[in-house]
Amino acid sequence: MEQKVSENVLIELKGLTKRYGYGDTESFALKDFNLSVKRGEFIMIMGPSGCGKTTLLDIIGLLDRASYGEYYLNGENVAGISARRQARLRAKKIGFIFQNFNLIDDLPIIENVSLPLIYSGYSKTSRLKKASTALKRFHLEEREYYLPYQLSGGQQQRVAIARAIVSDPEIILADEPTGNLDSRSSHIVMEELKAIHEEGNTIIMVTHNPALTVYATRVINMLDGQIDTDIKTVADANLPQPISVKIKKKKDNFASLEDVGKSLKKHKKSRRKK
Ligand SMILES: Nc1ncnc2c1ncn2[C@@H]1O[C@H](COP(=O)(O)OP(=O)(O)OP(=O)(O)O)[C@@H](O)[C@H]1O
Ligand SMILES: [Mg+2]
Repeated sequence: MEQKVSENVLIELKGLTKRYGYGDTESFALKDFNLSVKRGEFIMIMGPSGCGKTTLLDIIGLLDRASYGEYYLNGENVAGISARRQARLRAKKIGFIFQNFNLIDDLPIIENVSLPLIYSGYSKTSRLKKASTALKRFHLEEREYYLPYQLSGGQQQRVAIARAIVSDPEIILADEPTGNLDSRSSHIVMEELKAIHEEGNTIIMVTHNPALTVYATRVINMLDGQIDTDIKTVADANLPQPISVKIKKKKDNFASLEDVGKSLKKHKKSRRKK
């Protein structure tokens, strides 16, 4: 029985600390942060600006590293693994949705959506087919060869969601995904995330909008790099059951690794601007 419970734990953070600067300039974005995330949870993270929400998502998403502490993903301590392995794990297991969409401007949306499949071993044709299927789900099939700027904000965010789920990741991370959208588009995006969650996916989402917490199974309020309150609104036993899809391995990488890098750099750049 014990084992079953731990098998269900997807993420375990222990004593996670993110420090910036030294001496007089020392500050902590996260302080001795502990969190256990089960499969099928839909966690919403709230808290004042600067309390460490994005830092937390970036570390969970293997875009950033903690200064100290342990991070277990599926039972494996990934805190100290190489950047190369981080990139691989990220592509396979984690789907990202950002506030400013982070699509590559000069790639048609179908190619944007196919980017996370680079490490999957699929041929380019299969990757585009999968991307096309994902776009259909969001009713964007007629716009496959549009460039991002030719879409509305709500449509761009749906492209970003298609990109986040195309590789069937274990976890979807969303940092204020409705932050740049009007209320109608926000609603559509939230309904999509709800459907994705009901299929058994695990979602961690940062939001400033308390009205959105109705979609969550757990709401965490952060303060000064720590958890202030942590409330589960759905019992673990009632979380949706994951549907596991196995991907067949085939060797074939193509040259758009650069594009994946570009997308992540865009996120980091927009962070530095803040
Ligand atoms: N590269 C950096 N160098 C120094 N301090 C940083 C850096 N990145 C983030 N911080 C600090 O870490 C703290 C947490 O930042 P973070 O971006 O995680 O906050 P947040 O909760 O996401 O805020 P917001 O709601 O405004 O997005 C802030 O005080 C910020 O100034
Ligand atoms: Mg933030």
